[in-house]
Amino acid sequence: MSLVKLSVSAVRNLQPLSLEPSPRINLLAGDNGSGKTSVLEAIHLLGLARSFRSARLNPVIQHDCEQAVVFGQVRLLDGRLSQIGIARERGGDWQIRIDGQNARSAAQLAEVLPLQLINPDSFRLLEGAPKIRRQFLDWGVFHVEPRFLGAWQRLQGALRQRNSWLRHGRIDPAAQAAWDRELALASEAIDEYRRAYIQALKPVFEDTLAQLLELPELTLSYYRGWDRERSLGEVLAGSLARDRQLGHTQAGPQRADLRLRIGSHNAADILSRGQQKLVVCALRIAQGHLLNRAKHGQCVYLVDDLPSELDEQHRHALCRLLEDLDCQVFITGVDGETLKDGWRTDTPVAMFHVEHGRIESSGVKA
Ligand SMILES: Nc1ncnc2c1ncn2[C@@H]1O[C@H](COP(=O)(O)OP(=O)(O)O)[C@@H](O)[C@H]1O
Ligand SMILES: [Mg+2]
Repeated sequence: MSLVKLSVSAVRNLQPLSLEPSPRINLLAGDNGSGKTSVLEAIHLLGLARSFRSARLNPVIQHDCEQAVVFGQVRLLDGRLSQIGIARERGGDWQIRIDGQNARSAAQLAEVLPLQLINPDSFRLLEGAPKIRRQFLDWGVFHVEPRFLGAWQRLQGALRQRNSWLRHGRIDPAAQAAWDRELALASEAIDEYRRAYIQALKPVFEDTLAQLLELPELTLSYYRGWDRERSLGEVLAGSLARDRQLGHTQAGPQRADLRLRIGSHNAADILSRGQQKLVVCALRIAQGHLLNRAKHGQCVYLVDDLPSELDEQHRHALCRLLEDLDCQVFITGVDGETLKDGWRTDTPVAMFHVEHGRIESSGVKA
């Protein structure tokens, strides 16, 4: 997929803008505070209905404005165009539109516009809480396994039920057994999809990483969220007393994680920030390859502040990998010359200049 048109109004400091990006590489250069990250944030809002900068969305809405609106025209894999839009009001109301219809969930946006973000916070994928790695994993599974979303929704329903009776005490044993069965079935399905995904991701990730860094001893493994040797039913039965005490279910796919290790160490504990960023780039680019391979679409890469933490050699290696993915990329940086540098001569590169919330095309690099 690629964004053919983008219109943004009342996002951060951005003046109302309408843009026709290149289907390949788009470079956005401008001084600090000019609005470069805000452009990526607007695209992120369009694809995921949330920001990557703040948990709440009100800070994203321009001061003195009531609502932020982002609209995009997306070219789908089969060449058709899809119109998507999102409006978020200060009071909290949402509207998501896809091809003239109201959409019920952000997952529908994500299907039309799969996004990958690489920014100065990317190292958190290695260092942060398991939830961030689960989101990464589930992004990939969601986009290649159509049954995943249904299983995940079933899991959430069953977990809510179980946690509620864990906290409030009594439930009829037959109902409890039925919910535990539902929980176990959904969990096994999710585990199966995640496992298959990681199996496919691993070699692509290793291959991608090898083009960025020499870290042959780095390993990626998957923890499903409960003991490998026992069924979830068994584990749940064994931990019932403790679950009751805590008021929630401890074991299950809601506790899954990805582990990146070098020997017996956590990769995050020994790699430099720059190396961590490159490992995350390799993970995210590998996901793009799997998406291409599954023929479910292509993702759009948002790379905020490309030069941060990366030296010239690694920056160029990353450009190469993004070029090889053959998808649409938006890249920001303070210095346009640095951004322009490192692309193959035949890769179409469009350049934009951002200043005081205005964005102007500054040509195409031949
Ligand atoms: N809700 C808002 N309304 C108006 N301006 C905002 C809002 N939130 C942030 N800003 C301003 O937007 C500007 C652009 O920020 P940003 O996109 O991060 O710039 P860049 O990435 O180019 O350094 C900042 O100067 C900031 O003060
Ligand atoms: Mg920025």
